[in-house]
Amino acid sequence: MKVLGIETSCDETGVAVYDTAIGGVDGLRAHAVYSQIALHAEYGGVVPELASRDHVRKLLPLVRQTLDEAGLSTDDIDGVAYTAGPGLVGALLVGAGVARALAWGLDVPAIGVHHMEGHLLAPLMEDDPPAAPFVALLVSGGHTQLVAVDAIGSYRLLGETLDDAAGEAFDKTAKMMGLPYPGGPQLAALAEHGTPGVFKFPRPMTTRPGLDFSFSGLKTQVLLAWQASDKTDTTKADIARGFEDAVVDTLAIKCARALDATGFDTLIVAGGVGANTRLREKLRADAQRRGGRVCFPRPALCTDNGAMIAFAGALRLEAGQYGDAAVHVVPRWDM
Ligand code: KG4
Ligand code: ZN
Repeated sequence: MKVLGIETSCDETGVAVYDTAIGGVDGLRAHAVYSQIALHAEYGGVVPELASRDHVRKLLPLVRQTLDEAGLSTDDIDGVAYTAGPGLVGALLVGAGVARALAWGLDVPAIGVHHMEGHLLAPLMEDDPPAAPFVALLVSGGHTQLVAVDAIGSYRLLGETLDDAAGEAFDKTAKMMGLPYPGGPQLAALAEHGTPGVFKFPRPMTTRPGLDFSFSGLKTQVLLAWQASDKTDTTKADIARGFEDAVVDTLAIKCARALDATGFDTLIVAGGVGANTRLREKLRADAQRRGGRVCFPRPALCTDNGAMIAFAGALRLEAGQYGDAAVHVVPRWDM
């Protein structure tokens, strides 16, 4: 099955074609992401109305470009998958409307995909994919969750953030320190020049039992340190490093706890923060020590993209799941 995937939940327009007959990472025949970063930068965050309008402008040309790159025409497409939620309602409706219309015109099935299930399944596109059961750490700008994956499609929420998501904490901390939007990757890059241990921040909620997270207090601690500091480039990098180490340690401690609680030996990591180099290094070292396994998608498939939606949609379509012709989106949606 060749499935066209469309992602428009936030500020990236993502389109991809996944071919299940090929499978693995080669099954990804083509994928393209158009980022709206420049559009939103001057506002310091995503402006929903501008996001929707830009998806309208970019989506169909990106579909055309992706099909061309795959050497396919619309007639080759056997199904269309789109992000149905969670996300910005106007942005979601652009993808849903285009996907449903294309599917209707081509007389193929369409399916709405949960954005976080897309993230969760992305590591399974890579070579030598892990088999369920495993623990998934989902860390994006909107979510921080630990999920027990008993089977594909069978998910148990083990813990989640009580306030800010990990990516949101990266973004807000970066903004506080005057870094340009989007702050997460910028803060991570700055941390590379920092010295570990100069600033030591708490590892929130790790001293009591449980698998939930809280990152808003950490953000305040960093703000206080930043305000009291000399704000030189060196100090800035040291604070960024202290913050990053605190987030990475916290995530790693809870992942180890989730593996202990479930008895599973495999961890998969997905979502934008999964692109963070230090998090990847730390979780790899922990897995080696435990004798377990950790799997990540390549960094380009950690952040929002159409490939994960094409892949998740393909698995569901192949299982015979698809909806009616209604254009339906769910801005807030538990997986
Ligand atoms: O999954 P994603 O692309 O979009 C959402 O669904 O939210 O995740 C975006 C989040 C942002 O908060 C961004 O700052 C963060 O992922 N992020 C990173 C890195 N790359 C992206 N955070 C830390 N280090 C990175 N290298
Ligand atoms: Zn995402």
